[in-house]
Amino acid sequence: MTATATLTRHAPDNADSRVVDWVDSIAELTQPDRIVWCDGSAAERQRLLDEAVAAGTLIRLNPEKRPNSYLARSNPSDVARVESRTFICSEREDDAGPTNNWAAPAEMRVTLTGLFRGAMRGRTMYVMPFSMGPVGSPLARLGVQVTDSPYVVLSTGTMTRMGADALAQIGPRTEWVPAVHSVGAPLQPGDADVAWPCNETKYIVHYPETREIWSYGSAYGGNAILAKKAFALRIASKIGEQEGWLAAHMLLLKVTNPSGRAFHVAAGFPSACGKTNFAMLKPSMPGWTVETIGDDIAWMAPGPDGRLRAINPEAGFFGVAPGTGHSTNPTAIATVQSDTIFTNVALTDDGDVWWEGLTEETPSHLVDWLGRDWTPDSEAPAAHPNSRFTVSADLCPSIADTWDDPAGVPIDAVIFGGRRATNVPLVAQARSWEHGVYIGATLASERTAAAEGTLGELRRDPFAMLPFSGTHMADHWQHWLTVGERLGRSGQAPLIFQVNWFRRGEDGRFLWPGFSENSRALAWMTERIEGRADAVDSPFGLVPVDGAIDYAAAGVSREDWDALFAIEPEALSAEADDTDVFLARMGAKVPAAVMRQHAEFRARL
Ligand code: GTP
Ligand code: MN
Ligand code: MN
Repeated sequence: MTATATLTRHAPDNADSRVVDWVDSIAELTQPDRIVWCDGSAAERQRLLDEAVAAGTLIRLNPEKRPNSYLARSNPSDVARVESRTFICSEREDDAGPTNNWAAPAEMRVTLTGLFRGAMRGRTMYVMPFSMGPVGSPLARLGVQVTDSPYVVLSTGTMTRMGADALAQIGPRTEWVPAVHSVGAPLQPGDADVAWPCNETKYIVHYPETREIWSYGSAYGGNAILAKKAFALRIASKIGEQEGWLAAHMLLLKVTNPSGRAFHVAAGFPSACGKTNFAMLKPSMPGWTVETIGDDIAWMAPGPDGRLRAINPEAGFFGVAPGTGHSTNPTAIATVQSDTIFTNVALTDDGDVWWEGLTEETPSHLVDWLGRDWTPDSEAPAAHPNSRFTVSADLCPSIADTWDDPAGVPIDAVIFGGRRATNVPLVAQARSWEHGVYIGATLASERTAAAEGTLGELRRDPFAMLPFSGTHMADHWQHWLTVGERLGRSGQAPLIFQVNWFRRGEDGRFLWPGFSENSRALAWMTERIEGRADAVDSPFGLVPVDGAIDYAAAGVSREDWDALFAIEPEALSAEADDTDVFLARMGAKVPAAVMRQHAEFRARL
């Protein structure tokens, strides 16, 4: 009798036999000592937390300061997504496109089989059935991840609907995405474990056609919580293309105006460009409210009524800690008061957490994310710049009561934005869906230290999906055009807008105060939807007429307001040249509509 045959007897009675067979085959390959099928219960979570504390993976924070909360310190080399080790292994290289790493699936399978053989020796393999989206929603999708990392189980438990309810959804004909994860650090008998096992060799691999994910060597969230970026964006963007819906790196929010009319908005900004902040916006304008539906990923499908309906497939937030403070995002600060796992932030002397930007005053002594003593004189930051909090969405005070509606919410507007020191106005409305797709396709973010008067270094991040697309980027654009045509036929396509909170003056300071004042741009967008606000044409699309946005109330001078919308033909023409190069790199699949819109942008300069 093999060891694994003993172990899989513990599969729940109702587990679908394909799931059991698959778990069996992975156990055969990876040779774990034990297999645990996760039920997602509170008792199971507490047991895992206690074990992780005993193993040194988690540090329990002071319960008087931060109840039920923990600090994890990763291996110093395992702190972020590794784009260079992320692969889209489609059968044809052309289906992965020029923006993804590609390898032939058959070759990659050989490589991974070698790496995963015996990779879980000495460890427990956890089986995590999960639902992306409310369990049973027609928009939800199922998956099963195995992992040998208790930290990944705890994170997945917060970020997805994980456990027995999800497993019960999987019947003989249900589609589910299998995902295999190992930290790649097997233990020989007698080996002592480390607090954060991982491997220098890393692979994050996606097979879009067969809808499978394999991840090796890292326990960092973006590489290891495979339900999130790997499934809900990379694999889902391919499934969406085949089934007629959209997987987007977008927040979802509900905004209600003073007369009580509600609008739903999806907004795509590249990583670290303000999605979590915008999703938790506290409007500076009296009478307006913003409620949160999601802060990172949206799945959107044309509904039975012809409108675009969206769900947040996640169940929690995996947010950037640095820069999140009482003055910038008080809602996030309130959300992480308890029941939160922090990764790579600093520890205070009284057993609480701290990071740059949390408070105006810096504590006089801390233990930094590497476990070293830290004072304000220390050179390196106390928290890693990509340190994160993991917390359940239902702890967010601004969460909308419709956030987990199985039918999703109807989308009124789609917004694209990036970090642009120059050129891009505070807000503009696309002239059409096609123009909006062009704006998304050519989206860019700029280094904040851009030299004055010059274009600055542009990094294209089309649809904010550069690291997250499981398909050829130009196919992704064509898919958005196709979905837009379908929505347009029923006259119910959302309006598309572009925003930029990051334009700078010649002296380098931000021209727009941002954060709560972003509500003024949002309010104007809702007035455009209602047909109540006027706009004038510009090369970027329709911009607010004089007086449509009360910039003075936001503390912005007339001069700065004009600078937020200034058109500099030479800089725009240089940007159009850069767009030529970018579109040429995307190759022959670039839709004619995108080329047409680019020609029109030039013609309007
Ligand atoms: P991911 O979770 O990595 O996808 O990033 P995100 O898009 O959620 O970014 P997040 O909201 O965490 O913001 C990243 C940084 O942008 C933080 O340092 C924020 O303080 C800053 N930021 C967000 N909104 C604004 C704004 O309106 N103005 C300015 N100046 N900075 C902002
Ligand atoms: Mn993100
Ligand atoms: Mn975020």
